Amino acid sequence: VNAAHIIAVKRDGHELTSEQIAWFIGGFSRGDIPHYQMSALAMAIYLQGMSAAETTALTMEMLASGVTLTWDKSTASYVDKHSTGGVGDKVSLVLTPLLACCGLRAPMISGRGLGSTGGTLDKLESIPGFRTNLRLEELQRQTDSVGCVITGATDEIAPADRKLYALRDVTATVASIPLITASIMSKKLAEGLDVLVLDVKFGSGAFMKRLEDARQLANAMVAVGASMGVKTSALLTDMNQPLGRFAGNAVEVNESIEVLSGGGPPDVRELTLALGAELLVSSGIASTTPEAYRQLTNHLDNGDAIVKFREMVLAQGGDFDAARNVAPPQVVKSRNAGYVSHIDTEQLGMAVVELGGGRKKVGDAVDHSVGVELLVRHGDIVSVGEPLVNILAPPQAARQWDEIVAKALTVSDSRPEPLSLIAERIG
Ligand code: URA
Repeated sequence: VNAAHIIAVKRDGHELTSEQIAWFIGGFSRGDIPHYQMSALAMAIYLQGMSAAETTALTMEMLASGVTLTWDKSTASYVDKHSTGGVGDKVSLVLTPLLACCGLRAPMISGRGLGSTGGTLDKLESIPGFRTNLRLEELQRQTDSVGCVITGATDEIAPADRKLYALRDVTATVASIPLITASIMSKKLAEGLDVLVLDVKFGSGAFMKRLEDARQLANAMVAVGASMGVKTSALLTDMNQPLGRFAGNAVEVNESIEVLSGGGPPDVRELTLALGAELLVSSGIASTTPEAYRQLTNHLDNGDAIVKFREMVLAQGGDFDAARNVAPPQVVKSRNAGYVSHIDTEQLGMAVVELGGGRKKVGDAVDHSVGVELLVRHGDIVSVGEPLVNILAPPQAARQWDEIVAKALTVSDSRPEPLSLIAERIG
């Protein structure tokens, strides 16, 4: 076996054996295979793709480069949700404590913003004191005592993915379905789960612009989960407009608290319930989907979910009651009359990043106070001068974005096709 031979096999479009994949990824994690050979293999995978068996073998090796959590599963099932990333996607903040209210344990290892999409850890860090760098023992203890946790990956979780992701980022090999699948699934499977639900997003604010690509990614991830003994399903969900009314950090925590208290925007609630119902039914907590909805809505509406969120925040050192700064609004008005026929959601997400709400390079500080508030939805009728968006930022910065944010919303004479938040279920 040698690395150049394995690279050539994939370069020429042939299937790698699990032994070849294990040898290569094992060598890369130990530092025996240099980054230039790993980069070459990543490019060959990017160009030639991988079969389901190869993708599973790649995921297993990345998982095996680190630890897999073990749990005493005699009293509860361990479950999680993963989203491929969107603008305004705050579902993790609501769903994780909600699952704990239903008797499930949710050890969520989450990430930071990537490109135009927001990151759960960045949002939670707008709560003063909130720790997102728990040690694995802390993560395990809190999962069993509180029922839920949301924290970042530690060095022990799939270290091969961390090394490979850094290479992919600088070698134009991020957007590859087998590489994304192995990257996401190795980290999720390291949580030692019984059940996983995936929220695979498509549309203007998602990495996968086309439904077909999202479907392909979802199929690949569901197949890997199933082959590793984790009940896995996926919802393909629309990201052609931000989820909810706000995108940013503190504003999304505030909006999550509204949903956790039984209110909030209907789309955030709908998606949270649909993803939660997948987990409740697959783990046997509910015998039917309507029963799962009953349990979930009950905990949102009777105050349990917000109490559990508060408990999670306190357990992670956060001050739930401390003020979270939100920058002042600067309104962007419609230049035309007609239907809101298209929303460039990625552009709105990028505006939040540029205002300081996300990072342009690793290590950039995040301004938790900035964001955007969408005052209209896809398909609404607006008149000239009607407010479309509030840019939440210091006035001078907001003024620079007025034009770009206005252009992110197309107002035209033609009534657009309505969007359907949940397009398909896979699993
Ligand atoms: N998120 C990940 O963790 N990995 C990828 O490859 C893409 C998104």
